[in-house]
Amino acid sequence: MSEITEKKKVLSCIQPSGMLTLGNYLGALKNWVNMQEEFDCTFAVADLHAITVRQEPAKLRSQIYSTYAIMLALGLDPEKSTLFIQSQVPEHTALSWLLSCNTQFGEMSRMTQFKDKSAKHADNVNVGLFSYPVLMAADILLYKPDFVPVGADQKQHLEIARDIAERFNRIYGDVFTIPEAYIPKTGARVMSLQDPEKKMSKSDENANAWVAILDDKDTIIRKFKRAVTDSDNRIIVSEDKKGVSNLITIYSAVTGKTSSEIEKEFEGKGYGDFKLAVGEAVADELAPIKANYERFISDKAELERLFKEGAQSAERVARKTYFKAMKKVGFVL
Ligand code: TRP
Repeated sequence: MSEITEKKKVLSCIQPSGMLTLGNYLGALKNWVNMQEEFDCTFAVADLHAITVRQEPAKLRSQIYSTYAIMLALGLDPEKSTLFIQSQVPEHTALSWLLSCNTQFGEMSRMTQFKDKSAKHADNVNVGLFSYPVLMAADILLYKPDFVPVGADQKQHLEIARDIAERFNRIYGDVFTIPEAYIPKTGARVMSLQDPEKKMSKSDENANAWVAILDDKDTIIRKFKRAVTDSDNRIIVSEDKKGVSNLITIYSAVTGKTSSEIEKEFEGKGYGDFKLAVGEAVADELAPIKANYERFISDKAELERLFKEGAQSAERVARKTYFKAMKKVGFVL
């Protein structure tokens, strides 16, 4: 049966990190998995972006493998979606040069992530860190996606990608599709378990503040038992109960229950019971992912076969867009 209407296209990328967190999972990756049926999806490991801060080569290499393996382990399916590693498709860096020459120094200087990161890595404020959003624009524009799922911290970068695309099209003629941000119906903003005012982050010094996708059951339950709450012992969503609200968000994202169902479920119960239930639900959700991961990461040859195939199919799409842009600018092909 041939499809009459083509599926809308989606693109997103994630930086290779050895320690993807429950926040990455519930905030982004779980949605990618759900989007595979409805959309024509392309997902990549954004390894080129990772070297905007100093990386140890051996560690970077193993993190690229493990991030790709986690993507597979979650249920991203190379039969349904294009899954590849950014640096294996050279059109990303090539297009980013064309885009750089059509991006203003002033607009890049306003990027809040650049300001934050250059303050944090004051000894290495490299030009790549500055032009990071241009590479991200290339990642996006090469695949002409309709939608780009991104978290709040990447919204500004998506905006600039749209600006760059519009400007390029205006100057040279129509090349790029203008992408929209995709805000998923479900998708949780997961906060630190130790300081619920802050986003859950693997760079938190306090290891109890975050749960890794690959943590084992005991570790997960221990971290939830230690999660910061308050002294009022009521399990309800409330502005002044950020810790408890965060746990409800997590439990809801994992079980699919609504906040009010959860409030009812735990009425009259204490935080001890609740934290244990959240810990167990999270551990049960992550256990099969961890098991799949162990399987994928132990078969390097198969992983390599999959990411090479992914890069080839990504490049077929990327090359067309790149050549078109080159031609429009006046290069000889
Ligand atoms: N900058 C994104 C992040 O750190 C990762 C990224 C790179 C990305 N290229 C992208 C996200 C293209 C969406 C689309 O989270």
